[in-house]
Amino acid sequence: MPSSYNIAVIAGDGTGPEVISEGIKVLNAAASLFGFSLNFVNYDLGGARYLKTGETLPDSVLDELRRVNAIYLGAIGHPDVPPGTLEKGILLKLRFELDQYVNLRPVKLYPNVETPIKNKGPKEIDFIVCRENTEGFYVGSGGYFKKGTADEIAIQESINTRKGIERLLRYAFETTRARGKRKKLTLCGKTNVLTYAWGLWTRTFQEMAKEYPDVQTDYAHVDAICMWFVKNPEWFDVIATDNMFGDIITDLGAMIQGGMGIAAGGNINPQGVSMFEPIGGSAPKYTGQNIINPLAGILAGSLMLETLGEKVAAKSIEDAVIKALTKDIKSLEAGRMGHSTSEVGDLVEGYLS
Ligand code: IPM
Ligand code: MN
Repeated sequence: MPSSYNIAVIAGDGTGPEVISEGIKVLNAAASLFGFSLNFVNYDLGGARYLKTGETLPDSVLDELRRVNAIYLGAIGHPDVPPGTLEKGILLKLRFELDQYVNLRPVKLYPNVETPIKNKGPKEIDFIVCRENTEGFYVGSGGYFKKGTADEIAIQESINTRKGIERLLRYAFETTRARGKRKKLTLCGKTNVLTYAWGLWTRTFQEMAKEYPDVQTDYAHVDAICMWFVKNPEWFDVIATDNMFGDIITDLGAMIQGGMGIAAGGNINPQGVSMFEPIGGSAPKYTGQNIINPLAGILAGSLMLETLGEKVAAKSIEDAVIKALTKDIKSLEAGRMGHSTSEVGDLVEGYLS
């Protein structure tokens, strides 16, 4: 009996649907090649729905999403919707409600992809960031005092729980061990200034490290890590960090791996429903032109299959992307690929084996 998976698709806004439809094309081809099936169910969420109905993520939809095997997301963001509305109302709400406590972001430079970092190649740029995904500044704890007056005070607190830190670090240690590359886990924080938060992180990290004598541990301040990403990216294997720092360093990570056109990530709940997405946004100016790069979306699909346990199919998609990059694709930038969005999907599909 072949496996079958129910996948909720949130294609979302802007170029999201174009990217996701290439991803689905490739995922379906991989599924039939490797003998499993994917049942995609579309959910209309995003800026367009919000502007029409005022809804972001209705409870009834959330309840359905709790029961699928995974969620495949395109992009959320609309120029006519006030900033924060869709981010908090859809993307962050999904991460929090589904308790997707790891944001897994591989930073991997593929062959033939241009990096702005001089003298570094695929051998040097290949690490994984495990970003905490349900706490920190993203909890939305804080408020205003004397709002609108000259004495106004704004408070924005970072919430760090022992449990939240532990489960993220556990995942990061296990990932480091399973990856088996350099077996090095770097904690990225700010122990010299944010002493309460990073005091708890450091103590938890050091305690857990005793359970993983085979994993080498290291620490870097977040500002320094931005420097090392550019200067010595080869130092990193797996990085664990909090929500805010993880958000920032993975944009830099995406740039050194060739840009938003290739950067994919997973919002992981190892015991529940995980969600996979290209890291880039909805790119409204490229919408509907069939010029956006779908590779990040396709690689998010590969990450989804890997997490579902379809590791051979996941690897086959990644290998097919590498073939398309080495043989066909001229640039990762929208409109400069030498191929349209759908042609890139066709190329990757054709290289599956
Ligand atoms: C990301 C994005 C989100 C974040 C935004 C859109 C809320 O930047 O996935 O990195 O800050 O987490
Ligand atoms: Mn971000």
